Amino acid sequence: MLMMGGIMLIVYLSRRNDMITFVKREEEVEKKSVAVECSKDYQEELKHFPGCVPKNCGRMVQDTIVTDSEVLALLDIAQRGLGLGGSTGGASILDLHSGALSSGSTFVNIYKLEASKRIFKNQDFLIYRHVKNKIHAAIADHFGISKEHLYLTHPTFFSRITNKPAQTIHDEYWHPHVDKDTYESFHYTSLLYLTDYGFDFDGGRFIFVDKEGNKTVEPRRGRVSAFTSGSENLHFVEKVSKGTRYAVTVSFTCDPKHSIQDPSLTPQ
Ligand SMILES: *[C@@H]1O[C@H](CO)[C@@H](O)[C@H](O)[C@H]1NC(C)=O
Repeated sequence: MLMMGGIMLIVYLSRRNDMITFVKREEEVEKKSVAVECSKDYQEELKHFPGCVPKNCGRMVQDTIVTDSEVLALLDIAQRGLGLGGSTGGASILDLHSGALSSGSTFVNIYKLEASKRIFKNQDFLIYRHVKNKIHAAIADHFGISKEHLYLTHPTFFSRITNKPAQTIHDEYWHPHVDKDTYESFHYTSLLYLTDYGFDFDGGRFIFVDKEGNKTVEPRRGRVSAFTSGSENLHFVEKVSKGTRYAVTVSFTCDPKHSIQDPSLTPQ
C-alpha cells in the first residue's frame, strides 16, 4: 500500500503541469527512443524516396556518440564565430555552410568578414564534419534507412540563446512549430546540445507538444536528440530564463536536390 502510494506520488509529481520528462539532464542514456505514429505529411513523398521517407516515425536521444572533447571544440567554434556578430535579441545563429551569421537585427555572411579568415582553422571544419557524420550514421541506423539515401540539408547551424528580449521574429524560438512546415525538404531533424540545462542556463528545455501531455528533453552537453520532421513532432523550445544555451541543429532530407555540401575554409 505504502509502495503504491509512493509510485502514485512519483507519477503525480512527474506529470505536474502535464509535463513529462522524456530524458533528464542528469541521466546519461546510450539510447532512449519512442515510436510515434507518422503524420500524413510524408504520403506524397513516399513514392519518390522509398526507403528513406519516414514510415516509422519517432524520437530518439543518444548521449554517447559525441565525445567531450568534440563538444568543447564545437562550443569553441560557435563562440569564436558568434563573437563576430550576434543578434541584438535573444537568439543568434551561425551557419557554416551558407555563412549566415546573426548580426544586430539582420544577418551577414561570415566569410565576407576579414576576421573569419583568422578565426577558423582547417581543423574546425574537420571536427564539424566528423561529428555531423556520426549523427548522420546514428539517424540512419535508428530509423533503419541507408546512409547513402539520406542527405544533409539546409539549414544546419549553431544556435546561441540568452534571455535578452526578442527584437525580431528570428528571436522567437518558443512558438510551437513543425519543422517540415517551415522547411518542406526536411525529413529528420537533430539537435546536438553543447551546454547543460540547469548549469549553463535555465529554461531552454526542448518540448514535444503531445495531446497526452508534453514531453521534455533536457539539454546536456553531447546529447543528440533526433526526430522525424513532420507534424507528429510538433515542438518548441521553452524560453531561456538565465545563462546561455548553445546547440547545433543538424537537418536531413531524402531529396538529393536539397542536399548541401560540407563547409570548408574556402566556401562555395
Ligand atoms: C503543451 O504545450 C502547449 C504549447 O505551449 C500548450 O499550449 C499546452 O497547454 C501544453 N499541454 C499541456 C497538457 O500542458
